[in-house]
Amino acid sequence: NRNGVEFAVRDLDLAAAGRHQIRLAEHEMPGLMALRREFAAKQPLRGARIAGSLHMTVQTAVLIETLVALGADVRWVSCNIFSTQDEAAAAVVVGPEGTVDAPAGTPVFAWKGETLEEYWWCTMRLFEFADGQGPNLIVDDGGDATLLVHKGVDFEAAGTVPAATEDDHEEYRLILETLRGSLTADPQRFTRIAAGMRGVSEETTTGVTRLYELARGGRLLFPAINVNDSVTKSKFDNKYGIRHSLIDGLNRATDVMLGGKLAVVCGYGDVGKGAAESLRGQGARVVVTEIDPICALQAAMDGLQVVELDDVIDQGDIFITTTGGVDIILAEQMARMKHNAIVGNVGHFDNEIDMAGLARVPGIVKTEVKPQVHEWQFPDGHSILVLSEGRLMNLGNATGHPSFVMSSSFANQVLAQLELWQGEYANEVFTLPKHLDEKVARLHLDALGVRLSTLSKKQAEYLGLHVEGPYKPEHYRY
Ligand code: NAI
Repeated sequence: NRNGVEFAVRDLDLAAAGRHQIRLAEHEMPGLMALRREFAAKQPLRGARIAGSLHMTVQTAVLIETLVALGADVRWVSCNIFSTQDEAAAAVVVGPEGTVDAPAGTPVFAWKGETLEEYWWCTMRLFEFADGQGPNLIVDDGGDATLLVHKGVDFEAAGTVPAATEDDHEEYRLILETLRGSLTADPQRFTRIAAGMRGVSEETTTGVTRLYELARGGRLLFPAINVNDSVTKSKFDNKYGIRHSLIDGLNRATDVMLGGKLAVVCGYGDVGKGAAESLRGQGARVVVTEIDPICALQAAMDGLQVVELDDVIDQGDIFITTTGGVDIILAEQMARMKHNAIVGNVGHFDNEIDMAGLARVPGIVKTEVKPQVHEWQFPDGHSILVLSEGRLMNLGNATGHPSFVMSSSFANQVLAQLELWQGEYANEVFTLPKHLDEKVARLHLDALGVRLSTLSKKQAEYLGLHVEGPYKPEHYRY
């Protein structure tokens, strides 16, 4: 706490460097800046206490300062232990008007390279607004903040937190431990928070999957907006964002020549499509694995060979997982890879690559080449290179997606927060209406010199549309 602003970041002195980057990012984020211009005077988020758990990058800094400009009280953490940009975190704490000695910004609890214990410690700080209050809105990415509230409520109802079992993942043990501490300190904390929550807006595919599961079981405790499935999110960020940040991560991590190499992309959804295009653009030979016949056929039609992982396990130079699934590359498969094959994941969680199994291989030796780049040497002498310990490598080894595409994602986030704060929603999962999706796209056209055609009245009538849209039915797939 300095000057009344709480924080836990790497180094507040990085704020000036962060502020320069934020200034440049603002120019590249026309959607967010337009929303500031449209809404700041009205302060529509006044009274909102927003807890954000989303990669603490430069782009997220612009999102945070947009929410603040609209009147919200905000606290922020990263949703991944490696994704924070320390200079952005520092700049947000200091704020545009503050100084390092007298910060005047937003509380942030995030630094690059947190331990898992620190990660959950940071996440708990989201629930500590002034005067013992909790948040009334969440911006989530992957659903960890939402998970904590739901688990917290369950355990508070039971009056106890179960002991971890042998099978529990290390991360889940830490969640249990964190909630045990919370239950002792304040046995009704999450029950109170859940009762006061207006809702959550969720950024990514994996978090959205969790929300629909809760809603299906009738266990969702507050309304949710699925931001991921705005067209101007998943068809842009997941695809064009990865097209940019995947090779950025590969280059910064290893600087290996990509042209001519055999790259194996596991999953051909939105992220997989962007990953494949990114690698193809560098002249890599790309093959794809899929379980969904539609996506497999899409890959084939895009000219990519669809293989089973085992067919290419000893030939691939680069393996990238993009599925959001589990056990996609097993330790036993990594043992059969070529010397210095590169293995990286851009799906949300680290269980796509069996890191736990890799660590258990008898005689394996792990050497840190540099932070977030590890050489794993098998007893037979050959090695593989694993990026970001199997966590999102486009954020761990690089700085994630660029500003322009994140402006589109985050404009959806701001609109979703406004909807949740001002509207009356049931405890279900919603997507933003088409006219808002089209609005987000529209806000990004001028910056790219796009000259949009306008329907004539006759054309609109012929198509059964309004001149001002929406232009597509809900079932249209883009
Ligand atoms: P998606 O559902 O469009 O694509 C995933 C694809 O993987 C699907 O086509 C599915 O059939 C396939 N798949 C599932 N299991 C498989 C298996 N065992 N083998 C081969 N293919 C398999 O999801 P999307 O939007 O592409 O997201 C994927 C993951 O990436 C999610 O975890 C999401 O949260 C994350 N994500 C990461 C970003 C980043 O910056 N790194 C950005 C956006 C999303």
